[in-house]
Amino acid sequence: MAIGEELEVSEAQIAVHWREEEYIQPPPRFVGQANAHDPAILDRFREENFPECFREYADLLSWDRYWHTTLDSSEPPFWKWFVGGRLNACYNCVDRHLETRANQAALIWVPEPEGELTQTITYRELYRRVNEFAALLRDFCGLKAGDRITLHMPMVPELPVAMLACARLGVIHSEVFGGFSGAACGERIADSQSRFLVTIDGYYRNGDLVDHKVKADEAMARAASLGQEVDKVLVFRRHAGEYASATPMVEGRDVFVDDVIGEYRRAVVPPTSMPAEAPLFLMYTSGTTGRPKGAQHSTGGYLAYVAGTSKYYQDIHPDDTYWCMADIGWITGHSYIVYGPLALGTTTVLYEGVPTYPDPGRPWRIAERLGVTIFHTAPTSIRMLRKLGPDEPAKYDYRFKHMTTVGEPIEPDVWRWYHTSVGKGEAVIVDTWWQTETGGFLGSTLPGLQGMKPGSCGPAALGIYPVIFDEERKVVEPGSGKAGNICIRNPWPGIMQTIWGQPERFVEVYYRKYCNDLKSKDWHDWPYFAGDGALQAADGYFRILGRVDDVINVAGHRLGTKELESAAITVNEVAEAAAVPVIDAMRGKAVEMYISLKPGFKPSAELEAKVVKAIEVEIGKIARPTNVWIVSDMPKTRSGKIMRRVIAGISNFTDVGDITTLANPEVVEQIKHHVQSEKLSRGQLPRELSAQEEADIQAFGKAE
Ligand code: PRX
Repeated sequence: MAIGEELEVSEAQIAVHWREEEYIQPPPRFVGQANAHDPAILDRFREENFPECFREYADLLSWDRYWHTTLDSSEPPFWKWFVGGRLNACYNCVDRHLETRANQAALIWVPEPEGELTQTITYRELYRRVNEFAALLRDFCGLKAGDRITLHMPMVPELPVAMLACARLGVIHSEVFGGFSGAACGERIADSQSRFLVTIDGYYRNGDLVDHKVKADEAMARAASLGQEVDKVLVFRRHAGEYASATPMVEGRDVFVDDVIGEYRRAVVPPTSMPAEAPLFLMYTSGTTGRPKGAQHSTGGYLAYVAGTSKYYQDIHPDDTYWCMADIGWITGHSYIVYGPLALGTTTVLYEGVPTYPDPGRPWRIAERLGVTIFHTAPTSIRMLRKLGPDEPAKYDYRFKHMTTVGEPIEPDVWRWYHTSVGKGEAVIVDTWWQTETGGFLGSTLPGLQGMKPGSCGPAALGIYPVIFDEERKVVEPGSGKAGNICIRNPWPGIMQTIWGQPERFVEVYYRKYCNDLKSKDWHDWPYFAGDGALQAADGYFRILGRVDDVINVAGHRLGTKELESAAITVNEVAEAAAVPVIDAMRGKAVEMYISLKPGFKPSAELEAKVVKAIEVEIGKIARPTNVWIVSDMPKTRSGKIMRRVIAGISNFTDVGDITTLANPEVVEQIKHHVQSEKLSRGQLPRELSAQEEADIQAFGKAE
């Protein structure tokens, strides 16, 4: 579709105008060694071979008992994979590698302070640490298969050790991203009914030793207010024997792990053989209501899917040194730092701190020193590293064969810098599109077999059959130049099993919109609604625009507008709040809050600051809004619904769209004048948005 060519689109559709990029072929050096180099794999995963094609992924694992049914789809949309099979995830990630590579590094941990020693943890050492912690969980805490436990841990090796120890016992872990506030952690503790919290006193971030334990006390208070009592808080110490937090340990509740772990020295805990469908972990994510959604992932299906995609899409071989710079507190870290890479027996690198500390050469020094061969990060880090140190990669002698971008759309220009400068023109790139809910990749090129196209994630992943629907449930054809809602027609092993404790919400959020018949027992009637706007080029490659629901993706972190709004209205003076995304050159998007006040209160800078503080307390600093706009009234429909699309247009200096159906169209001009002149005076100048950015803003809230 050429720029300037007009497309006919209905109100439900989004027309997108951009130039298609040229293909870039994978380098022969990569293709020669790729796990997927034989095009026959594409045939094996064709739709007529579904669902048996996924045996190939499950066969990468060691099963205690082989399954009898690959897919049981008799109760849509609660799919069961590899039914009858039994396995243990920890055994698959640790024990089974001992025979051949006990002395190979499993984890390499790089602390943020450059003077501190890197820790190399071999598979043998990992086995020992996991067993000791599992013994502590079992004997000291009394935890058993099916119980939940919350982890609120930063990027330290104790986090994967704790996860694997849980997996060894069949205990369901729920790791909350370390940057989330204590209150957010407390809500997740209550939702998952965890009786134990694992945390750490402090960790390094941007040169500071952050007090983290203080959040545990806030989490306890919030959980208690929601009726959840916690028996014990297990506190690791960042520096053995020293306590980095200002808050006291609570007698009877708080325990230093290093005080008790000695009792379990050299303990061996047999891995519990779990049914394939037993939940492995919960990962909370933002949704359309304030209550967080605990995406529940299975043991067999999930592990098979992340092992398979790690092999073919991350191209992991056991002798690679693989570094994914994401945080384990997000799904990317669970699937592609811990479970996928360790299931394949490779060496996976963990870095504690921020990529640009103490300078933007840091990642490349780490890569050079450790001999990293595969590198994985998000567009927001790539943009930051390019801005602060465009010439840094050239100064270091590392050689990547493979690189990943994940989490947000990447601008073709940023992609090219990644390719040329970071990858030195020698590495293949995969742009992997997926979600917390999906366990693993949904869209990506198969790196040795399919050409790369900057800005497009590529075709669907093996065994994934997507379709794009418009709001009227009509199929949007490839090559039509129109975007719509991307759905996946079939179940796959990595898909979440349900939302923890909220099965109706699971059906409601992901399936109701495009389900042909809610009574149907045939999976063909149950496409999965991903909540993303996308369009498909004639060659089958997808370009993902961004969320069509009320989720805002800030630097790859999903924030729900409802969560932001609920946080804002905890401020007494606030009557109503609306959160909208603004395009941000570094973070992809940033948040702006619009609030109206209860009668009798006047706008002030203090009130704006109170709203920012409330958001930090309720969610965390990552959610801090760029601006808080206090307005006299929100633009609303006649039924009283706030039109976020209109204010999003104002904040982005783009078209506000049709406002004739509003109950109060006159406020639009007022708000526009106030906000835009204020932005100009704050130096937040409008810039011309790319076609993709404009389509992204247009898509926001489209499917609300
Ligand atoms: O909007 C899509 C965007 O991130 C959302 C999922 O976020 P989360 O559940 O936090 O998982 C992040 C790690 C997979 C999606 O709905 N997204 C993810 N990957 C891409 C992307 N947008 C464009 N391109 C991608 N490669």
